[in-house]
Amino acid sequence: MYSHPDRLRQFLAGMTGISMGAAVAIAQKFPWKNYKTFADVGAAQGAVPVQVALAHPHLKGLNFDLPQVGPIFDDYVRGFGLSDRLSFQAGDFFKEQLPKVDVIIMGHILHDWNLEEKKLIVKRAFDALPRGAPTSSTRPSSTTTGVRTPSACSCPLTCSSRRPADSTTPGPTALHG
Ligand SMILES: C[S@@+](CC[C@H](N)C(=O)[O-])C[C@H]1O[C@@H](n2cnc3c(N)ncnc32)[C@H](O)[C@@H]1O
Repeated sequence: MYSHPDRLRQFLAGMTGISMGAAVAIAQKFPWKNYKTFADVGAAQGAVPVQVALAHPHLKGLNFDLPQVGPIFDDYVRGFGLSDRLSFQAGDFFKEQLPKVDVIIMGHILHDWNLEEKKLIVKRAFDALPRGAPTSSTRPSSTTTGVRTPSACSCPLTCSSRRPADSTTPGPTALHG
């Protein structure tokens, strides 16, 4: 599909339709006022980053996704006048570190991979986040709340969050699915 731009564009637009409800909920319910930057890992066309950026003008966001997705994301973001705050970073989460930001979102990502692969992706998110930062992860058919550290994760994995260094309570977590 990644070698067929038209099919890829169709698929990514389809993901926007599937994820729009979750995108609006994340934009509304997550405590974004506490954070300045975010990355949506595998954001596709960009439904979630666009809804978050529209609702919170103080935020800057990234889509970390495979390079072929870049022009499709950029077109969508331009349509909302958000190109000054939302940018694309080409990358492969199996090969590269994730960008260092305050919040990492993953929607409909982990269910595609086996347990070892899931652990690697979540570890990359864990390594990229500052202490106390939240991770939001979605999967297709259910919503599960909870907080995990990578060492405590088991399949199906839905969420990872770093705890504040001086606290036994988990950092904030937003989930949808
Ligand atoms: C099922 S879509 C999910 C899109 C969006 N997060 C949502 O929930 O609507 C999976 C996304 O992950 C991206 N992706 C797949 N493999 C990837 C990789 N190795 N590194 C970075 N992104 C990847 C795809 O290009 C696609 O945008």
